[in-house]
Amino acid sequence: MSAVNEKKVAALEAVKYIKSGMTVGLGTGSTAFFMIEAIGEMVKNGLQIKAVATSNETEKLATKLGINVITLAEAKRLDVTIDGADEVDEDFQLIKGGGGALLREKIVAHNSDLNVIIADSSKSVAKLGKFKLPIETIPFATQLILKELDDMGLSPVQRMKGDKAYKTDENNDILDIDIWDTEIELNDLEQQLKSIPGVVETGLFLTSTNVVIIGIGEEAVIKKK
Ligand code: A5P
Repeated sequence: MSAVNEKKVAALEAVKYIKSGMTVGLGTGSTAFFMIEAIGEMVKNGLQIKAVATSNETEKLATKLGINVITLAEAKRLDVTIDGADEVDEDFQLIKGGGGALLREKIVAHNSDLNVIIADSSKSVAKLGKFKLPIETIPFATQLILKELDDMGLSPVQRMKGDKAYKTDENNDILDIDIWDTEIELNDLEQQLKSIPGVVETGLFLTSTNVVIIGIGEEAVIKKK
């Protein structure tokens, strides 16, 4: 079965967590797309929810499908967030941000009672780091952070869009770093990266995930923490 179908299988299983009256965090990306589409259908059939979007792209899609999108400030707290991931390991740790939405995704996950991650089988890994870890940086500091991360042996590459720097929804830059060979433990790495002034956020999601749903062939495999 193709990755696209596995994404859909995982997404359709995840939306079973959503009930009327809930405030729901909507993730970003090609897997989250199927979840948002399914919620749009449920709303048409009478489901009543409020939703917080993790990106402009998600907000646009959700609004188009008739989902009531509110701000995080209005929501105050979310019941459940469903989002994709670039990699997920056995300990519910993730790399996210391939689509550049890591900052809002991490804020929404932090403010959510339950975080459900959906992915196709290619995202499930024994060790994080084949996928380059995205780091969001303030443009004023980006070039100096590049040098600092290079000195740490993390081979940073600034993400580009054509011949211009890629910009996030917050108008920040993204540096993709290579953590595969680093000997720094992930929690320490997160601390070290976050302690560099100008680093806004990293795509390491180490503690927020409660449930992982992986599409494997026709089946949705559910793992709970
Ligand atoms: C968005 O920035 C990301 O964190 C996505 O959630 C992640 O990259 C997964 O995206 P896909 O479902 O498109 O692979």
